Amino acid sequence: MEIVILADAAAVSAYAARCVANQIRRKPRTVLGLATGSTPAGLYGELIRLHRENGLDFSQVTTFNLDEYLGIPRDHPQSYHQVIRQAFLDHVNVQPGRVHIPDGMAKDVDAECRRYEDAIRAAGGIDIQILGMGKTGHIGFNEPGSSLGSRTRLKELTPPTIHDNSRFFPSEADVPRYSITMGVGTIMEARRCLMLVLGAHKADTLARAIEGPVTAMVTASMLQLHPLATIVIDEAASERLELREHYRWVFEHKPSWQQE
Ligand code: F6R
Repeated sequence: MEIVILADAAAVSAYAARCVANQIRRKPRTVLGLATGSTPAGLYGELIRLHRENGLDFSQVTTFNLDEYLGIPRDHPQSYHQVIRQAFLDHVNVQPGRVHIPDGMAKDVDAECRRYEDAIRAAGGIDIQILGMGKTGHIGFNEPGSSLGSRTRLKELTPPTIHDNSRFFPSEADVPRYSITMGVGTIMEARRCLMLVLGAHKADTLARAIEGPVTAMVTASMLQLHPLATIVIDEAASERLELREHYRWVFEHKPSWQQE
């Protein structure tokens, strides 16, 4: 795991965007895993800027969203279909046929989950998976107690996540209770994971994820076992890390031949 501690959200977004842009320049047919939520908003803003100002080309890129709420139609303003379009996809030249998001209105949820896994496999697997981390330590909607080997499936949201996500809905009662989410095992098969974490309110959970034991109680901790995971965080999120100064030193002395 590489831990990159930067001053603030703007620096985190710019660094993460460079990682994604370098990947796309190296491999134009990149398969990109997308997260929604507030954390990657700045990263998407920066990718849009690189597309407009530097010609970063998404025409051959394929995208897979991590998750979708179950039971809300795709034109609902808070469906992840809408959220990712508005935050990112509508502003770059990703081809609509290359965009994949679980269908939250699927009649046969198991079949939809199998279809999603098959589509990821058929695309050649995910090259770089963007992740945020919930306050419960979840990646995707893999809440505490999720199997660390899980695949795309239906998952219940826990009360803290329902509470956190209620900021996007008229009230807590309007937040869907279920989602379709890539499993931890699905995420672990991405060739690179790029997790962004911002803010002091996530500092305790982040310390558990990075420096605690690998546990289903904090599914982000599974990234400790990933061969190429980069965790990009701001100063506030780094506050509880025991090895904070060491991570800083390692990053500052990173050899120039190592990829961003
Ligand atoms: C979103 C997702 C979630 C979020 C996490 C953090 O697609 O899979 O795991 O990344 O809940 O959300 P924010 O960034 O809003 O704090």
